[in-house]
Amino acid sequence: MSHNFPKLLSPGRIAGLDLRNRIVMAAMGTNFADENGHCTERLIAYYEARARGGTGLIVLETSAAFYPNGASMPNNIGFSSDDFLPGLSELAQRVQQHGAKIVAQLNHSGKMAQADTAAGRPIPVPSPVTPSHSNMFNVLTRAEIGNFIKAAGPDGKGPSYYEMSVEQIAEAVAGFAAAAARARRAGFDGVELHAGHGYLLANFLSPYTNKRSDDYGGSVENRARFLLETIRAVRAATSDTFPILVRLDGMEYRIEGGITPADCVETARLCESAGADAIDVSAYGSVAHAIAFTEAPLVHEPGGFIAFAQAVKKAVSIPVIGVGRIEPEVGERHIAQGSFDFLAMGRRLLADPELPNKLLAGQDKSIRPCIYCYICVSQIFINQPVVCAVNHCTGREHEGDILARSSEGRKILVIGAGPGGMEAARLLAEKGHRVSLWDKSRDLGGTARIAGLAYEPNEKLVNYLAHAVRALPIDIQLGKAATSDAVAAEHADHVILATGALRQAPAIPGKDQRHVFDGEELRGVLFGDHSAAIAKLSPLQRLLVKAAQLSQMTRNIALLRFGSKLWMPIAGEVVIIGGGLVGLELAEYLVERGRKITVLEPGPDLGAELAIVRRARVLHQLREHGATIHKSVDAIEITPDSVRYELKNEPQSTPCKQVIIAMGAQPDDSLPAQLSGGSAQVHQIGDCHSVGYIDGAILDARKLVQQIERANA
Ligand SMILES: Cc1cc2nc3c(=O)[nH]c(=O)nc-3n(C[C@H](O)[C@H](O)[C@H](O)COP(=O)(O)O)c2cc1C
Ligand code: SF4
Repeated sequence: MSHNFPKLLSPGRIAGLDLRNRIVMAAMGTNFADENGHCTERLIAYYEARARGGTGLIVLETSAAFYPNGASMPNNIGFSSDDFLPGLSELAQRVQQHGAKIVAQLNHSGKMAQADTAAGRPIPVPSPVTPSHSNMFNVLTRAEIGNFIKAAGPDGKGPSYYEMSVEQIAEAVAGFAAAAARARRAGFDGVELHAGHGYLLANFLSPYTNKRSDDYGGSVENRARFLLETIRAVRAATSDTFPILVRLDGMEYRIEGGITPADCVETARLCESAGADAIDVSAYGSVAHAIAFTEAPLVHEPGGFIAFAQAVKKAVSIPVIGVGRIEPEVGERHIAQGSFDFLAMGRRLLADPELPNKLLAGQDKSIRPCIYCYICVSQIFINQPVVCAVNHCTGREHEGDILARSSEGRKILVIGAGPGGMEAARLLAEKGHRVSLWDKSRDLGGTARIAGLAYEPNEKLVNYLAHAVRALPIDIQLGKAATSDAVAAEHADHVILATGALRQAPAIPGKDQRHVFDGEELRGVLFGDHSAAIAKLSPLQRLLVKAAQLSQMTRNIALLRFGSKLWMPIAGEVVIIGGGLVGLELAEYLVERGRKITVLEPGPDLGAELAIVRRARVLHQLREHGATIHKSVDAIEITPDSVRYELKNEPQSTPCKQVIIAMGAQPDDSLPAQLSGGSAQVHQIGDCHSVGYIDGAILDARKLVQQIERANA
């Protein structure tokens, strides 16, 4: 076996703990515990899959050392009583049997203790809380606002706080130590103290939340005192060699007077002196700002926290863990350069738990990529179990192996090679069915190709799925029209329609003008394969599109993404009608290419199909780039040089040279009607069944495969 990761895949050591490689699974809340804080089979199977996948060290999700107090989500794991021991022991043992090690992330969520707020329990804080205005509500849909209001506690007034006395701090230190001793008794290999992300220990570390004037406030050393006492107490309650990791924030984003990188370095030094064995360098962004969450801890910028880890690494002699959208290749380079010693990954291991094994086997192309869509973490925001948009097995590991071979192979025709169609074809072929995959286009990917044009991670998903279906014995036919005769000639047992949505612009006055494109036409103009849409362009534009087509540039998403930054047949001032997922992502793509954008959404919500955190980011970015976005817009009419509409009953007009109608996507049920007379069973998945996002199509593929399996049984 040859691979390109000699450092990342080399054994590592934290205190006396030997690890098979330098890959750490970052702590990620799942909401998979039961409502009383106990481990469930679902939770254990999820972690076991990551251990089996080759990860060296698993950091268990945030767990409540003082359960139920200080829990951050409804289904949080508890470490506060021996009642939790059986489940915790089984979890540790099932992870370790695959050669991985596991440490428990012990936490009190402090100001963020949602479970305390919901139950009306007062929350401990270092000093009185300064009320902050949140702009989060601006991005929520009406349904989500309803849920947030329900989470405001029994009296609807939100959280209540109490300032911790010195005695209460001492009790908390003892509570952490007792939880760590329990983790050790349960067979865990160590603990990670969560001293980041706005939780209780971080509330003391942050000068923004800690205004105390006693020994626990003021200087870095005083603010760290609670944490340092906790480290010492954990050491005393466990053993000299029991690994104690500490998660720190390299910085608090959008918090004036919050933790700085220099504070973090100093705190890390103090932690080492107090007996910590490793520092895990993350960061935090104020929840009062909708965008901040994608700055930290769920950093959008690749490798956004590496500089913090480097600074800590220079200051301490214990191992340093780097985290924050760091791809394995980048992690390898930085471990080699000495920026940090271990690479923690979160989302990449939700998307593919087998990532370490695949790196080891040199099968990098078979790794399912994360598309950084924030669906996973948005689930936690709304108190739901974690899911992964691209990996339907995440959180369903306990249901058994979806790829287990089928007893009877069937002939199956999949029509449409977007993510849903390719995933269905992949699963069915892996299960031993005889699969054909057709698409009318010359390329695999369907509408995900246009999504890849706007957002590179989507292209990686297309490439991964294309690689997967090509590596299997699937009869792939591109440029193939699925006429009823052609389908009938296949004599398939099952026909799966994954043909996407029908995108027809609604009846907006003026929509038939040359400067107006609907979604289908825009796609066709960019990819150069829609003659009617191309005919709407000027002669020079047509020539350039033709040249791009002849040079095959229109088939290469990466090249097209780059090339479209230099030129594209879209005018400078654009009105996009429709502020759903398609409209907003399109607006993001166009503002990045220097277009002046106005988005008009007739409905009351913007980007409702986007996960909250991603939506917050898109809306923020658009507004920062000067885009104008209106919702609840009425009476839209397109003129040759403007779009007229009403906003709060006031007539408005936006001048523009180009209008794109990003509305009117409907499930496409034309083919099922045509095929209904045949002998094959016809199924629909993805947008042709119900218009949604990539996660819906991928999950539909799984459900369909299970349905076919049941029908075959
Ligand atoms: C769904 C989800 C839940 C998370 N929950 C936790 C948590 O419980 N504790 C924690 O310290 N960080 C948590 N994080 C942050 C991750 O540990 C990690 O620092 C972050 O995702 C950045 O790493 P990545 O880019 O490799 O995903 C969570 C992240 C995700 C995606
Ligand atoms: S849900 Fe999206 S962001 Fe989260 S791990 Fe999966 S692909 Fe990545």
